[in-house]
Amino acid sequence: MENGNNRGNWGSKIGLILAMAGNAVGLGNFWRFPYQAASNGGGAFMIPYFAALILIGIPVMLVEWNLGRYGGKYGHGTLGPMVYLQAREGIGPKKAAIYASLAGAIAFGVTLLVNSYYNQIIGWTLGYSYMSLTGGYMDTAKSTGEIFVSYIQSPKVFIFWIIAVGGLGYAVKRGVEDGIERWAKVMMPVLYVFGIILAIRAITMGSPVKPEWSSLKGLNYIWNPDFSKLSWKAALAAAGQIFFTLSLGMGIICNYASYLKPDEDIVASSFATVSLNEFAEIILGGTAVIPIAYAFLGPEGVGAGVGLSFIALPNVFRTMTGGSIFGSLWFLLLFFAGFTSAIAMYNYLVALLEEDLKVKRSTGALAIFIAYIIVGLPVALEPILTKTADLAYLTETDNWVGVYLLVVLGLIEAIAAGWFMGDKALEELNRGGYWQIPSWFFNTFVKGITPIAIAILLIFSTKDYIEAGYFKLVPSFVEKTPQLVPWVQGARVVIFAVLLTGFIQSYKSIKAKYGKELSENKVSIRL
Ligand code: ALA
Repeated sequence: MENGNNRGNWGSKIGLILAMAGNAVGLGNFWRFPYQAASNGGGAFMIPYFAALILIGIPVMLVEWNLGRYGGKYGHGTLGPMVYLQAREGIGPKKAAIYASLAGAIAFGVTLLVNSYYNQIIGWTLGYSYMSLTGGYMDTAKSTGEIFVSYIQSPKVFIFWIIAVGGLGYAVKRGVEDGIERWAKVMMPVLYVFGIILAIRAITMGSPVKPEWSSLKGLNYIWNPDFSKLSWKAALAAAGQIFFTLSLGMGIICNYASYLKPDEDIVASSFATVSLNEFAEIILGGTAVIPIAYAFLGPEGVGAGVGLSFIALPNVFRTMTGGSIFGSLWFLLLFFAGFTSAIAMYNYLVALLEEDLKVKRSTGALAIFIAYIIVGLPVALEPILTKTADLAYLTETDNWVGVYLLVVLGLIEAIAAGWFMGDKALEELNRGGYWQIPSWFFNTFVKGITPIAIAILLIFSTKDYIEAGYFKLVPSFVEKTPQLVPWVQGARVVIFAVLLTGFIQSYKSIKAKYGKELSENKVSIRL
């Protein structure tokens, strides 16, 4: 309770680092990264990936830890007031309140709506862990694609999903130190051990199917860039992956950082978070998944897209020796990864209720449990009611909330720190640090290259979205499936309504505490 506002603190340094790593290491590392890398040119994807990591990922990670610790000092765990506190230094309270409410709206939208499908996928991983142990996908009479479709169209989906959300709610209810930190201390080390076992298994498996399909060739595919495959599309996908995998532009790194003590280090801790995440992503995610898929399924199988984890890999597990064990390790690893990230989104919303409605943590956790079930229902029901497996509602929500809006929020945060708060943000960032960020780094990146790179990314992503037909009333990806159009339109209505609610809520939250500043348009509340 040492940040002076009874919001709770992390219990230990190791607990904090594991919780932050848990926040970042998620389905993005093991489910999303391999198919993004594989379907965007393999090695050619890794070049813009590393560029985005350095130009955007690391600077925004520092910005978010700083934003969170600074906001936490004033008793805030949510983005609206946090961004307000930085933006008011440059543009004054009135404009800052509007600017920050945009940030608050996006973080509210992301934490509520990403978890409408993220929790669902965590449920699938739990269901598939169970199926690995009980032989549920081992029957070779059916293709793994058919098994997946029948799984998402069955009531089993509800059981595992509700267990997953219930588990998250239980952990969040116990609080930051006794709930989140404790779970992270168990799940994260286990996840790394499982990842290492799978990676070793992958690189030592040779060529079980065809001599020309070896796991080492799979490694070569991702580490040996074919420069002719470099493209803008791959670059956009890589930068989008950096946001998603590092949990940037979601508000959840800031929320966790808000439980730091005012002088606790943030520079070294930000680098630790990035390093642990990248180890899990490129070393474990890249080494375990791509080589296994390559060795068994060849280059075509590696490009299996979204279905790589749930359709292509079960194919492998049912033919390899010890497949049931390795299958369970894989799906449990996905479960732990997803769980420790979803918990951060859950906690964000509980913090919001605690802060604004002054509810008890346990009441907040229950309210968010109900909210997650409600917003997740369309994702669970669409395959059952439409007898399709296109997941159009999920795709539409992910396109906007899980990809596009993250970049917008990243830009808002970088401008608030670099331009509005400026040098004071650097001073704040370095307070209590084991390492210090030099001013040249801050001036070059946070004030310059990073916001410019994000702005360029946003412009090209918008162009890409227009070309892909995402801005059309009936987006191209559902043009041929008219029964899915209402699901996409429904997703849009939900996204709009949630963002509007988030904006109003953030503005009210800022006004409740800083109303005097807003009416005088002068900063007067300082700690
Ligand atoms: N960063 C989290 C992930 O990678 C959200 O899944």
